[in-house]
Amino acid sequence: MQLKNLLPVALGAVASAQSLAEVFANHTAQLSSLDGLLGNTSLLTALSSASNLTILAPSNDALSAFLASPRGMAAGNDTEAIVALLQYHVLNGTHHAYNFTARPQFIPTMLMNSTYANVTGGQSVEVIRNGTNVTIYSGLVERSRVTMSNLNFTGGTVHVIDKVLTVPESIVSTGVAGNLTSLVGAVTRANAVDAIDSLRDITIFAPSNAAFSRIGSALQNISAADLGNVLNYHVVNGTVGYSSILTNTTLRTLQGGEVTVRIENGSVFVNSARVTTPDLLVENGVIHVIDAVLNPNATTATPDPTASSTMAVFPGATSVSTDVFTESVPPQTTVIVGAPTGAGGAVTSSSSAGAKRAWQTGAVGVGALFGGAGMLLNM
Ligand SMILES: *[C@@H]1O[C@H](CO)[C@@H](O)[C@H](O)[C@H]1NC(C)=O
Ligand SMILES: *[C@@H]1O[C@H](CO)[C@@H](O)[C@H](O)[C@H]1NC(C)=O
Ligand SMILES: *[C@@H]1O[C@H](CO)[C@@H](O)[C@H](O)[C@H]1NC(C)=O
Ligand SMILES: *[C@@H]1O[C@H](CO)[C@@H](O)[C@H](O)[C@H]1NC(C)=O
Ligand SMILES: *[C@@H]1O[C@H](CO)[C@@H](O)[C@H](O)[C@H]1NC(C)=O
Ligand SMILES: *[C@@H]1O[C@H](CO)[C@@H](O)[C@H](O)[C@H]1NC(C)=O
Ligand SMILES: *[C@@H]1O[C@H](CO)[C@@H](O)[C@H](O)[C@H]1NC(C)=O
Ligand SMILES: *[C@@H]1O[C@H](CO)[C@@H](O)[C@H](O)[C@H]1NC(C)=O
Ligand SMILES: *[C@@H]1O[C@H](CO)[C@@H](O)[C@H](O)[C@H]1NC(C)=O
Ligand SMILES: *[C@@H]1O[C@H](CO)[C@@H](O)[C@H](O)[C@H]1NC(C)=O
Repeated sequence: MQLKNLLPVALGAVASAQSLAEVFANHTAQLSSLDGLLGNTSLLTALSSASNLTILAPSNDALSAFLASPRGMAAGNDTEAIVALLQYHVLNGTHHAYNFTARPQFIPTMLMNSTYANVTGGQSVEVIRNGTNVTIYSGLVERSRVTMSNLNFTGGTVHVIDKVLTVPESIVSTGVAGNLTSLVGAVTRANAVDAIDSLRDITIFAPSNAAFSRIGSALQNISAADLGNVLNYHVVNGTVGYSSILTNTTLRTLQGGEVTVRIENGSVFVNSARVTTPDLLVENGVIHVIDAVLNPNATTATPDPTASSTMAVFPGATSVSTDVFTESVPPQTTVIVGAPTGAGGAVTSSSSAGAKRAWQTGAVGVGALFGGAGMLLNM
């Protein structure tokens, strides 16, 4: 009985399955560039023989835009970074488009190399469906749209996307991209950049620039040590608290004290602060933007869900009219694709025509992909 039920399904699956090479061959209008990049490399073999995965395949237009960008040009000579980037485009599990929901999903990828990501189980992408539109959020708050979905192959499925994903980067470059320059300046001023970058699996509650300005007087002459203490109260070590998994709970922070997370009427609060923008992906976890600076001495502050803005919890502090700490933001330079970022938050790269040419001809890409195949085969 059971066998009888299973057989037609199994046969049907075999009959309808096409190889990954056939998927590429049948969609040259979208995928000939990616196909050319993969070429006859062992990466294609690895992907072709792997099972239970989802490939987010950049379209021809997406790849040419990427190759023309500073990031793409820099990537041409960085084989390890190319591999990391490709690994970030491969999701663990077969996720058909109809499995995506309006509620954000955080799906782990094959990017596990700690040079590029310190997220256990693989760096994630965020996927959100809105009607028939599926959007993928990646690093630096970049978004890609699925333009063609469910191109099934023997090992899973392929979705074509209109923009190359960005591997999530450090708190510094992500904060700059997300207009969190006061936080970036504060973390730099407190000499805490390297310490935060070296952690694995973190959640950062990141006060907006306005939140910092609102207590400007309390920050004016603050020592690096006191500032570090306040900032550490915003960092949770050992938990990547994506919005999809946050519940009413307390979380211990790096500072030692706990923050209280509450979900009220669909809004997320941390102590009394409201999460205004959730889920900025960083190399070692996730950032949620909040509308007030948390005070480690005010752990009992509770939310007022009806208030339009959150009261400051630094007694006596007055606001200043300019963004604070922004003079301490490290200068941003061209960031190489998937760059592991140090104190500067960015790696300078010379974007030469040679690098771009290498990508286009596959001369460098092939070497990179051979290297990457081994890593992918570890699946
Ligand atoms: C894909 O291409 C293969 C041959 O490469 C062909 O047999 C198959 O019918 C095509 N499938 C679709 C859905 O076009
Ligand atoms: C496929 O991967 C998903 C996600 O990792 C997992 O939940 C599921 O059990 C896997 N299915 C198979 C058939 O291996
Ligand atoms: C791919 O497989 C899924 C699940 O079996 C199916 O719903 C979908 O229609 C398939 N896609 C195509 C293009 O046939
Ligand atoms: C991951 O953590 C290790 C150990 O702290 C560190 O050396 C590495 O630079 C981190 N990776 C990234 C991408 O920051
Ligand atoms: C900060 O220090 C300066 C110089 O010592 C002083 O004039 C100023 O009043 C201080 N500001 C605050 C808010 O304490
Ligand atoms: C962060 O957590 C890891 C393991 O969960 C631990 O080894 C490490 O010491 C912690 N770092 C800090 C600064 O607390
Ligand atoms: C979380 O706690 C708040 C009170 O702080 C309560 O109103 C809400 O229903 C709780 N939510 C869940 C999901 O338990
Ligand atoms: C918290 O209280 C301690 C002890 O009273 C004090 O030294 C520290 O400056 C306070 N921190 C903040 C951020 O107000
Ligand atoms: C690529 O890297 C090699 C080794 O670091 C270097 O010698 C070469 O000049 C670089 N080429 C380009 C185009 O950047
Ligand atoms: C994929 O996810 C499953 C859990 O859902 C895990 O057991 C498996 O190790 C993952 N595969 C890879 C290659 O990380």
